Amino acid sequence: MMQVNDISVSYGAGPIVSHVSFEVVPEDKLIILGRNGVGKTTLLKGIMGILAIKGSLNFNNENITGYSTSQRSRCGLAYVPQGREIFPDLTVEENLQMGALSHPVHFKDKLAEVLEYFPILTEHMKRKGGVLSGGQQQQLAIARAFMGDPSILMLDEPTEGIQPNIVSHISSILTRYHQEKHVPLIVVEQNLKFARRLGNKFLIIQKGTIVAAGPIENLTNEVSIRYLSV
Ligand SMILES: Nc1ncnc2c1ncn2[C@@H]1O[C@H](COP(=O)(O)OP(=O)(O)OP(=O)(O)O)[C@@H](O)[C@H]1O
Ligand SMILES: [Mg+2]
Repeated sequence: MMQVNDISVSYGAGPIVSHVSFEVVPEDKLIILGRNGVGKTTLLKGIMGILAIKGSLNFNNENITGYSTSQRSRCGLAYVPQGREIFPDLTVEENLQMGALSHPVHFKDKLAEVLEYFPILTEHMKRKGGVLSGGQQQQLAIARAFMGDPSILMLDEPTEGIQPNIVSHISSILTRYHQEKHVPLIVVEQNLKFARRLGNKFLIIQKGTIVAAGPIENLTNEVSIRYLSV
């Protein structure tokens, strides 16, 4: 499905992400963990083509390393950035329309399908995105990514600053979406409970490199204390 081969990313000076390699198959819900500032967001931005990478990236047997962000999204890569970047001045419906723009989907049908996962949004379709609560905005950001019918979905800290019952709701939505659509997930997370509930595999980053990886069962308290100090 996707092979990340020896990827390095820098902002000019030394590399922030160095020599990272991993593979994602359709069954995967890969959780990426690491302390603040280790390069998790930088890695996702490199995969999405927002930042230039060294190394190579294969997706569905195609070398997409030289592709722009919009070419990558046309290939089916989708990304929900850290900090729920919705369009605050557009309505919920307009935000969802933006998610369908680059993809030839029938808007009304796709909207109905996506709203099944997010019943809360149906109550707010004509309201501006910016007036929604944080948890609702995060659901809108994820719903917008679903609108594009992605083949692989990356989410950067979807539970950051979200209350516990909405965190478990988001976990259920992502689990169901993965089961029904067979879309692999790559989720950057700090919330261990959420990570263990959602993920099937994990990797831990320290100073831009992978220091631990394996099936989620191996994400023991010992491992988390050692690498994450939690
Ligand atoms: N635009 C930028 N220019 C220069 N350095 C940057 C830029 N963005 C991030 N960095 C640096 O790169 C490093 C990794 O940042 P990154 O945002 O990838 O970390 P992260 O693991 O996602 O952290 P967090 O858990 O806080 O989101 C940090 O030291 C950060 O200061
Ligand atoms: Mg980050």
